[in-house]
Amino acid sequence: MKKFTKILSTVVAAALMAVTFTACGDSSSTSDGKKGSIKFGTNAEFPPFEFVASKGVIGEFDGIDMAIAKQIAEDNDKEAKIENMEFDSLLVALDNGKIDAAIAGMTVTDERKEKVDFSETYYNAKQVMIVKESSDIAKASDMADKKIVVIQGYTGETCVKKLGYAYQSFKKGTEAIMELVNGKCDVVVIDSATADKYVKDNEGLKIVEDNTEFENEEYAIAVKKGNKELLDQINKTIKKMKDDGKISELSAKYADVTDTDSSSESK
Ligand code: ARG
Repeated sequence: MKKFTKILSTVVAAALMAVTFTACGDSSSTSDGKKGSIKFGTNAEFPPFEFVASKGVIGEFDGIDMAIAKQIAEDNDKEAKIENMEFDSLLVALDNGKIDAAIAGMTVTDERKEKVDFSETYYNAKQVMIVKESSDIAKASDMADKKIVVIQGYTGETCVKKLGYAYQSFKKGTEAIMELVNGKCDVVVIDSATADKYVKDNEGLKIVEDNTEFENEEYAIAVKKGNKELLDQINKTIKKMKDDGKISELSAKYADVTDTDSSSESK
């Protein structure tokens, strides 16, 4: 009996020690005991893909992309960290190692493909025009003599440039929309899902499409050229989330969430 107690206490002590060791972990482990982290860069000015909310899926960051980033990290037993920066800075940040991956509703383009490697695509989008409800703009060429606003560095800017029209660019979608709402410009060219959100959140606006002028765009996650290990991990999760309908589910969920009331309680 005595011997049994002694063995038992040894076992308990050993177990306790093991627990202590795991809890402390090595220096590369994160606070919750995961094996390191993946640093995702984004520009959280692009609902429903990424925006700042009172309670997001990763800290204050919420949206479709943030949920995907979280899943990628989880599938690899890592913690997802978010570096919020200007959209224009993302590819540079990848190059100099400040971030491991860029997830930002980023359209795959030939120009960007020269600088970074892209994952499998996970979302189809296109540029649309946001105008006042009373606007007579009905197709892209109607913008020719209008005051056009785009967001700096977005593919919408490339499209308008290609059309050869003069435009003004802003750093944030919300700033562009305010220009439109205040009657200081006639049209904002931006990605479809984000446009839907802005039109839902602001009265008196409508969306005009021009599917002959604006081509389909596909979003993907970017990594530094040659980072095959991370790209494989990302692709595995994207494939899974596409196959099991999770990405469609997220798209539907976040189409309804508004920037300020976003939380896990939202449907
Ligand atoms: N899809 C557009 C592009 O790739 C806009 C992306 C903007 N994303 C953001 N997180 N601000 O240029």
